[in-house]
Order: sequence, then C-alpha cells, then structure tokens
Amino acid sequence: MTASALASVICIMVMLLPAYYAAAAAAPAPAPAAYSHDAYRACKQKAADRILCGPSAFTFYLHNTVYNPTVDNKDYFNSVYGLPPNVTWPNPYSFGTTSTFEDPLTEGPANTSQQIGVAQGLWQLNSKVGYTLFHIFTANITDGDYKGTISILGQIREVDPVRYLTVVGGTGDFLGARGLATNRLVTIDHTAPATWTLSFDLDLYY
Ligand SMILES: *[C@@H]1O[C@H](CO)[C@@H](O)[C@H](O)[C@H]1NC(C)=O
Ligand SMILES: *[C@@H]1O[C@H](CO)[C@@H](O)[C@H](O)[C@H]1NC(C)=O
Ligand SMILES: *[C@@H]1O[C@H](CO)[C@@H](O)[C@H](O)[C@H]1NC(C)=O
Repeated sequence: MTASALASVICIMVMLLPAYYAAAAAAPAPAPAAYSHDAYRACKQKAADRILCGPSAFTFYLHNTVYNPTVDNKDYFNSVYGLPPNVTWPNPYSFGTTSTFEDPLTEGPANTSQQIGVAQGLWQLNSKVGYTLFHIFTANITDGDYKGTISILGQIREVDPVRYLTVVGGTGDFLGARGLATNRLVTIDHTAPATWTLSFDLDLYY
C-alpha cells in the first residue's frame, strides 16, 4: 500500500468512527445473564483471590472503664452512660439505657498488651427480661500488620458465654469485609468504677 492510499484509509476510518460510536451507543444493552449460584461462587472466589483482601481471621481485646462520679475517675475512663429512660415503674434491667464508649483495643488479653487501635461506638440495654447489650461500633485498627476500620453490630446477652455479632463492613485493609465476630467476656470487675475486658475473634469474608 502506498503512503497516499494508507492516508486515505486512515481518513475514511476517522470519518466512520463517530458513526460507529453512535451506533454502539444506540444499541440496546445486552440482557443480564441469569443469576446462578455457580456465578456467585465464581465471583466470591475471584474476590477471595484479590490481593487487596485483608485477613480471614483477626482478634482483638477491648478494655472498658466506666465513668463513675462516685469515684470521680474523670482522668481514667472510656465510657459514659446517657440519661436513663424516664420511667417510674420498676426497670430491673435498665431497659433503654445507653452507654457510649471509646475503648482501647489490644492484641492480647492483658490491659498492658500492645495497643492496636480503638473501638468507638455505643450499646443500649434493649431487653426487659435480661441484660442484653445491643452493640454498634467501629474498631479502628491503626497498629500491626493490618490497618483500617471494622464495623461491628449485634447483641451481647450477658448470660451467654459466647455471643455472635456480625461484621458488616470495613475500610482500608478490611475493605469489603463481612463475617462473624465471636465475643466472650474475659474479665469483669464490678468494683467502682467498674472495668471489663471483652475478646472479639473475627472470621472475615471479602
Ligand atoms: C419524665 O416524665 C414525667 C411524666 O411524664 C414528666 O413530667 C417529666 O417532665 C419527665 N422528665 C424528663 C426529664 O423528661
Ligand atoms: C490494668 O488492670 C489492672 C488490674 O485491674 C489495673 O490495676 C491497672 O490500672 C490497669 N492498667 C491499665 C493501663 O488500664
Ligand atoms: C483511626 O485512627 C487514626 C489515628 O487516630 C485517625 O487518624 C483516623 O482518622 C481514624 N479513622 C477513623 C475512621 O476514625
């Protein structure tokens, strides 16, 4: 092909391009493929292989110290109660009471263990027949192999030795995480101001 013939071909292609794009834009979108479990599994597998995915297991320990005016511990507390519900009948399980917390998270069960982040959130006593704490909080992990936030919600029934909450999302290394947050009471000291440690063992899916 001569140089001038080549130039003509390119010129014709350039002229035809807008028509090609206009036709493509006007073409109806293909119908979506039928949803199948195989497709879902393939998608999950692809997601599981993504290099950006964070850990499939992750554990932290949460340490809480209640603010208690009777011991005036304003210099060392990390949770406060909100206004109690305005009821005049007996309310043995403090139904309706809330607590807001900003608790240190450590990698081990001791309160002197390496701190890896902080849990910020709240719980509400949401049962009239037992101590049941509905938790919703963000674990902000800032130190260690993984960094990012993990969003957790679910019930902690005090009588249950093991409680199952859900991981509903995450950011950073935990982007897209969902899964199970298995919770246990590690220690509790009712002596004022009241302190406790909870463990959270997470099984994470991306
Ligand atoms: C509590 O409820 C009572 C009776 O309804 C009402 O008179 C009172 O103002 C309420 N107190 C507060 C702090 O809302
Ligand atoms: C850790 O727990 C011990 C025993 O309950 C307590 O005396 C100490 O003040 C706590 N340390 C921190 C950093 O919270
Ligand atoms: C997590 O903590 C770090 C360090 O304090 C802070 O810079 C970051 O904004 C926090 N992330 C969220 C979502 O709170």
